[in-house]
Amino acid sequence: VVRGFSSSAVRNVVIKNVTIIGGGQMGAGIAQVAASTGHSVTLVDTSDDILKKSIKTIEGSLKRVVKKKFADKPEAGEEFIKKVVQNVSTSTDVESAVQSSDLVVEAIVENLKIKQDLFSRLDKLAPPHTIFASNTSSLSISDIASSTSRQDRFGGLHFFNPVPMMKLVEVIGTPATSQETLDSLLNFSKVLRKTPVSCKVRLYVSDASKEDIDIAMKLGAGHPMGPLELADYIGLDIINSVIEGETKDPNNPLFNSSDLLNKLVAEGKLGRKTGEGFFKY
Ligand code: CAA
Ligand code: NAD
Repeated sequence: VVRGFSSSAVRNVVIKNVTIIGGGQMGAGIAQVAASTGHSVTLVDTSDDILKKSIKTIEGSLKRVVKKKFADKPEAGEEFIKKVVQNVSTSTDVESAVQSSDLVVEAIVENLKIKQDLFSRLDKLAPPHTIFASNTSSLSISDIASSTSRQDRFGGLHFFNPVPMMKLVEVIGTPATSQETLDSLLNFSKVLRKTPVSCKVRLYVSDASKEDIDIAMKLGAGHPMGPLELADYIGLDIINSVIEGETKDPNNPLFNSSDLLNKLVAEGKLGRKTGEGFFKY
């Protein structure tokens, strides 16, 4: 059981051994936070030189973390860094790196074909229970997952840069992802002390909850208020007038007036000033 983890909260695969493929900006950061929260991490890249750099990056970032976290206990900070780094082993051999893995997080180059080739290989090498996740910024998780025979155990785990600082993780399911896999990925993100939001398919905002939309924009884009909270703050009647005043493009549905906004305004739910809008006050 992972240290500091309330097992009662977990119904699904408890993730202890994590393999991270790609030790660049994102992979090193993900390895750092996973190792800092007691996971046993194997970090994979194409050469030992790159992996040495990844470990240097992790040590550098940990120094910044402990400078604040252990401000008056520098020795405890040094001890913490040592322990975290011990939780990370490195490898250039994908085959052995996934053999006892509960979760593989891929953070390699943003190229569909290369990601598909990697996952199709991993699919044959990893144990059946192993969950696969991609940190892709822009590619379709379904397209990447289609290279494997474990589409039910495949999802997106989208971290933000710099990983040690950014609280948001988008957990992305495809139509084929099982609920157990999604729950495991959500639990894993929480164990990393991140704030996960669920996305059915990325950018499909109509599938996200209003709370998740606001959390994503606050923690992922650094906005002090989420867009819906901000709309309530401005006043939904005002927002509606602004939309009405926009130049319309008849071919783009994004310029249409919003049925939901019209309904809320008609019901007198204008935001903070009336005590209710998207949210209740
Ligand atoms: N590791 C550990 N600690 C770090 C760190 C890191 N990599 N970066 C910053 N910190 C901490 C340190 O405590 C640092 O203090 P020290 O300099 O004394 O070590 C403190 O944060 C302040 O850092 P900085 O003075 O360097 O600068 P800052 O106050 O601007 O904070 C930042 C840095 C958190 C990165 C901030 O600039 C920020 O939030 N930037 C926006 C990042 C963002 O929006 N990321 C999302 C990118 S989009 C994405 O990731 C998705 C995609 O798919 C492309
Ligand atoms: P990066 O270039 O810093 O790191 C990629 C690493 O993957 C490199 O070290 C490279 O040697 C390694 N690599 C490439 N092919 C490999 C393979 N077949 N096997 C093993 N290792 C391999 O890139 P990054 O910024 O860390 O981005 C990685 C992924 O994360 C991309 O999919 C990107 O879209 C996504 N992402 C990036 C950011 C960001 O802000 N940089 C944020 C969120 C998500």
